[in-house]
Amino acid sequence: MRQTIIAGNWKMVGDFNKITQVLAQVKQDLTPSNDKAILVFPPSPYFSLCADYIKQHGAFFAWGAQNISQHEKGAFTGEVSASMVKDFGGTHVLVGHSERRSLYGETDELVAQKFERAQQSGLIPVLCVGESQAQREASETMTVVIAQIQAVIDLCGIECFSRAVLAYEPVWAIGTGLTATPQQAQEVHQEIRHYLAAQSIEIADALSILYGGSMKPDNASGLLGMADIDGGLIGGASTVPDQFVAIGNAV
Ligand code: PGA
Repeated sequence: MRQTIIAGNWKMVGDFNKITQVLAQVKQDLTPSNDKAILVFPPSPYFSLCADYIKQHGAFFAWGAQNISQHEKGAFTGEVSASMVKDFGGTHVLVGHSERRSLYGETDELVAQKFERAQQSGLIPVLCVGESQAQREASETMTVVIAQIQAVIDLCGIECFSRAVLAYEPVWAIGTGLTATPQQAQEVHQEIRHYLAAQSIEIADALSILYGGSMKPDNASGLLGMADIDGGLIGGASTVPDQFVAIGNAV
């Protein structure tokens, strides 16, 4: 059985009070269960706030970083290493989020290096892939998504996906209020799984593939009900406690 994962990407949003409030409400209102994992991705200054909260309150969720350096350590002003995230108790890291790719010029190769660094430091990478509106209109969705995945396989091998999570996030749906229909998302998820299955059926079957892009309480059940959609990576709605909790409880 694949694990269902509901993950909140808080981006550069929130402050001490707001993040404390979201943590408290998730702990109080989200119903834990053995077959679903809840993850939050705070901005880096709030790592210890999340780590301490989870430790003190016996919370059932885990946290990760939104980005890491591809380097192990050294003179890289402003960067955060995978081992620093691990040091504070982080378990996961997003790599290749479309905002990192488009705003900070992260290439498929750089994303693959970050993926590798995450695993070398004991973090589970959540590899984000997805096409732009223009690429979808030009029928390039699968070409783009497969190239993003293949860059990681080229560097790390197919086995690396036995210790990773994938997130399909169509760029045109992120933060826009436009959501892929359950059928549109399922089609891409299924094709991704087929592509990986051609290299390892076991790894493809066990890999959790999340959908991201304007997931909200009113569209979550439809998306999460699809055979190859194993959870959600949620941006905007994850910073609104009621909405994040409602999505988590829709599983
Ligand atoms: P959104 O963001 O839910 O606000 O569209 C998703 C993401 O960026 O991971």
